[in-house]
Amino acid sequence: MVLTLVQSAPSPSAAPLLDVRALSLGFGTSKTRLLDGVRYSVEAGETLCIVGESGCGKSVSSLAIMGLLPQGAAHIHEADIRFRGERYDLNDMAALRRHRGADIAMIFQEPMTSLNPAFKVGDQIAEAVTAHNDVSEAQARDRAVEMLRRVRIPAPEARMNEYPHQLSGGMRQRVMIAMALANDPALLIADEPTTALDVTIQSQILDLIRDLQAETGMGTIMITHDLGVVAEIADNVAVMYAGTIVEAGPADAIFNDPQHPYTIGLMSSMPRLTGPRERLTTVPGTVPTVETMPAGCRFSTRCPFAQPVCAETPPQREFGRGHRALCHFAPLDDRLERSA
Ligand SMILES: Nc1ncnc2c1ncn2[C@@H]1O[C@H](COP(=O)(O)OP(=O)(O)OP(=O)(O)O)[C@@H](O)[C@H]1O
Ligand SMILES: [Mg+2]
Repeated sequence: MVLTLVQSAPSPSAAPLLDVRALSLGFGTSKTRLLDGVRYSVEAGETLCIVGESGCGKSVSSLAIMGLLPQGAAHIHEADIRFRGERYDLNDMAALRRHRGADIAMIFQEPMTSLNPAFKVGDQIAEAVTAHNDVSEAQARDRAVEMLRRVRIPAPEARMNEYPHQLSGGMRQRVMIAMALANDPALLIADEPTTALDVTIQSQILDLIRDLQAETGMGTIMITHDLGVVAEIADNVAVMYAGTIVEAGPADAIFNDPQHPYTIGLMSSMPRLTGPRERLTTVPGTVPTVETMPAGCRFSTRCPFAQPVCAETPPQREFGRGHRALCHFAPLDDRLERSA
């Protein structure tokens, strides 16, 4: 029986954990898609970093996947998404609720958005456990203590009885991670989880996430605008610009062989830790809004290489190993050759 299943069905373990094949959506009555054809995937045990400037749609895309966008405000144009090889329906709110917190968990920049100031942290973690499992109150509390220990909170039994405001920012972030991981999710989406913390605490939290990932084999999507964080933890990177993934691929390809002009701009704005101090260059201009979105390539208004053809939708160019860029002129070497 088991053999038949294994032979006949496409093996779910061969499929990516989360496979976003196309996600397009807008808000209100605007015809312009805020997210347009967003595509990325993450495997079990792997970290995908989604990187891009403020306002480019990083949070909106993950909130959409969690089913947490304000109901009625967002209009989903297309959502071809698989979770463990199975169709993942953004319109099926009941299914999204079942997934949320159990298979897929999310942590946010500011822990107070997830923690309720009026309840003891132990009770909040225990409640996350009972929401998805048929366990006694005592079992849920035991699990909460275990989770606090796993996120390296000293004296977890005593901390159980504290309120969020009694904890430091770093401790609160640990509690939020404990709550997110209480049900052993297969996928963790972390939206700028360390931005609000000072640098030392920031690297402790990143180390913690990495250790927990090694222990549990969960896949992680880390949203950040910090390329230092990306360099430290990413297996794969998706570069987002104005609601599109302009480039994606293995981290080494993105850092050492970027192909999209936006990625190249981002890389040159990365402060160097070694060597002579260079002036921090940034990509001039700002991310367009839905009102100012150019036709064709969304980066064309800021791109130093833009040509008339960029007013047309750019093609997806592939360079092997999953490295791809959304640009008429990628790979850039080609373009340089052509214009030489
Ligand atoms: N509920 C909403 N209704 C209308 N527009 C929205 C809504 N939520 C977000 N937006 C718009 O979507 C765009 C993308 O926002 P998003 O929060 O995803 O950006 P981000 O990439 O996460 O930026 P940051 O790095 O600042 O967190 C912004 O222009 C924002 O104003
Ligand atoms: Mg955001």
